[in-house]
Amino acid sequence: MAAAAVGQLFEGMKAFKGSDRRVRLFRPWLNMDRMLRSALRLCLPSFDKVELLECIRRLVEVDKDWVPDSIGASLYVRPTFLGNEPSLGVSRSTQALLFVILCPVDSYFPGDAMNPVSLLADPTFIRAWVGGVGDCKLGGNYGPTVFVQQEAKKKGCEQVLWLYGSDHQLTEVGTMNIFIYWTYEDGVLELVTPPLDGVILPGVVRQSLLDLAQTWGEFRVVERKITMKEVMRALEEGRIREVFGSGTACQVCPVHRILYQGKQLHIPTMENGPELTLRFQKELKAIQYGTKAHEWMLPV
Ligand SMILES: Cc1ncc(COP(=O)(O)O)c(C=O)c1O
Repeated sequence: MAAAAVGQLFEGMKAFKGSDRRVRLFRPWLNMDRMLRSALRLCLPSFDKVELLECIRRLVEVDKDWVPDSIGASLYVRPTFLGNEPSLGVSRSTQALLFVILCPVDSYFPGDAMNPVSLLADPTFIRAWVGGVGDCKLGGNYGPTVFVQQEAKKKGCEQVLWLYGSDHQLTEVGTMNIFIYWTYEDGVLELVTPPLDGVILPGVVRQSLLDLAQTWGEFRVVERKITMKEVMRALEEGRIREVFGSGTACQVCPVHRILYQGKQLHIPTMENGPELTLRFQKELKAIQYGTKAHEWMLPV
């Protein structure tokens, strides 16, 4: 009988080749933690995170010539886990396939340039909800987003800004976490991203930006709900400096426009440098390509 894969999940991480020709994985332990959490949520068989990471390390070692050596390029690593129980029932998988796909990828942005993206914010489409599985990286979270992505394209936007709740909370951008660098209502300069309340995917880059900004200690760093009403008021009052997404594909990606309730909201990210977005990009590159030794990197 054909296997029925009711459970399917994946991960996304990158290996980078430094100027010293060494290959390193970026914070892969966090991907292993997230992958095991996803597997347990789907009742797929459990696995040993340390052992899987060692398998991935060895695989990348064997294929290390496929890791591009230009700055910005990398080897994308896609662990995948599918239930393949020989049954049509919706039930716990006692057997599953775990495999890892590797693919060299070019830099998302050419050189140090940054191309900002425009977003469709339409509250009729919901990516994830409280009590759901938006905080896991399950195949089922992504298939339905393709349609919405197409709707965004039809309306002249590049990505989707996922809103949630009657107060239109900003949750994520496409397959990225969202950050706003602004002066908050209390007059304090801060970097804010929504909290991990079950609706947000705990991004590895998200965590890294929070960690970096905390160590700099130059502005407030906070995880708090953000609503469209707050964003519109901040735009009117000229308090927004930068809006950007974070994720493994692009690392950081500036936002310059949001289409919301028929209005084109201009976000002045590019006019403001984007100072913070570029600083994060530079800092991450220094760590990932080995110019700055860092405990976040696992040498292959
Ligand atoms: C919905 C969603 N949010 C955020 C992210 C960013 O996560 P990471 O920084 O681990 O790539 C991703 C990508 O995995 C994603 O699919």
